[in-house]
Amino acid sequence: MATRRNVLAVVALALATAVSSTAPAVAGANSDSLRSAARGSGVRIGTAVDMSALASDADYRTIVATEFDSVTAENVMKWEAVEPEQGRYDWAAADRLVDFARANGQVVRGHTLVWHNQNPSWLTEDAFTPAQLRQILRNHIKTQVRHFKGRVYQWDVVNEVYNDDGTLRDTIWLRALGPGYIADAFRWAHEADPKAKLYLNDYNNEGVNAKSDAYYALTKQLRSQGVPIHGYGMQGHLGVQYGFPGSVFDNVRRFDALGVQTAFTEVDVRMILPVDATKEQAQAYGFSTLLQACLLARHCVSYTVWGFTDRYSWVPGVFEGQGSATPYTEDLQRKPAYQALRNTFLLARH
Ligand code: XIL
Repeated sequence: MATRRNVLAVVALALATAVSSTAPAVAGANSDSLRSAARGSGVRIGTAVDMSALASDADYRTIVATEFDSVTAENVMKWEAVEPEQGRYDWAAADRLVDFARANGQVVRGHTLVWHNQNPSWLTEDAFTPAQLRQILRNHIKTQVRHFKGRVYQWDVVNEVYNDDGTLRDTIWLRALGPGYIADAFRWAHEADPKAKLYLNDYNNEGVNAKSDAYYALTKQLRSQGVPIHGYGMQGHLGVQYGFPGSVFDNVRRFDALGVQTAFTEVDVRMILPVDATKEQAQAYGFSTLLQACLLARHCVSYTVWGFTDRYSWVPGVFEGQGSATPYTEDLQRKPAYQALRNTFLLARH
């Protein structure tokens, strides 16, 4: 299989095909899907899943099941969802996703164990001593990873721990425990499930820049200390108005060389509304660029979109005046971005 290496050579063709959407259909059952296009590429195609949409929207459910072979909980595995009161865990929604994935032959990425957002108020408002916080963090990580042992194959162990300038983010964890909390989190997660692949994860870390440099140095350091860290996650929240990180492949390749996996974990490409054809083409290019970098890398194992339809995307609620960030419209029509992703996978086979 020459596959991965030849992707760049066919980029122009992929994009041209996306524009005209005259992509040749591949033969075989269910060939008209991202999932079948990704088969054999070594890259899982995933989506974040909104559990209320999964429960209430049959069309949404069908697309999750047929288009993707990996799922991530958009919210229900976060701390506030799983441990709403100290020591009381609620796995109901997360378990439903894991069961859905099993029924549909999908793997599950776990998101996320340590973060500064979406923490329960008991954790952030109560004044715990550093020793207590360390115990709380350890219990949380161990309990959660143990609960999903063998059912979640990758964990975003720490999420967004650096600032864009490459300094460590000021969080309750850094303040109370110092920078060593990161290594501890990986060690605790590994003890709870030695087979799970353990990831760093962040945004604005796709290209070579101060933030990804910090992650590169951290990864190197942790590996040399024998800390069980296996992957580097790049969220991939892009916007057509910013352009796209040209050095993404160089970045992925340097992590490859460290011997860790890489993954694009939350890809979406937003735009300032209203939508027009030019922005949609730029968006297709953005989605495809990250996928090309992944296909070209030796150890890039998955590419996940942060929701596949504008019907439930988080973008309009957070970035004022922006939207249309996913590969499907609100009406569940496939956009040029969808075709670009599919064609990029298909062309990588040749
Ligand atoms: C977002 C979800 O999509 C929203 O539904 C929620 O209200 C806030 O969090 N980086 C991450 C994700 O790691 O967990 C965030 O998800 C988006 C940014």
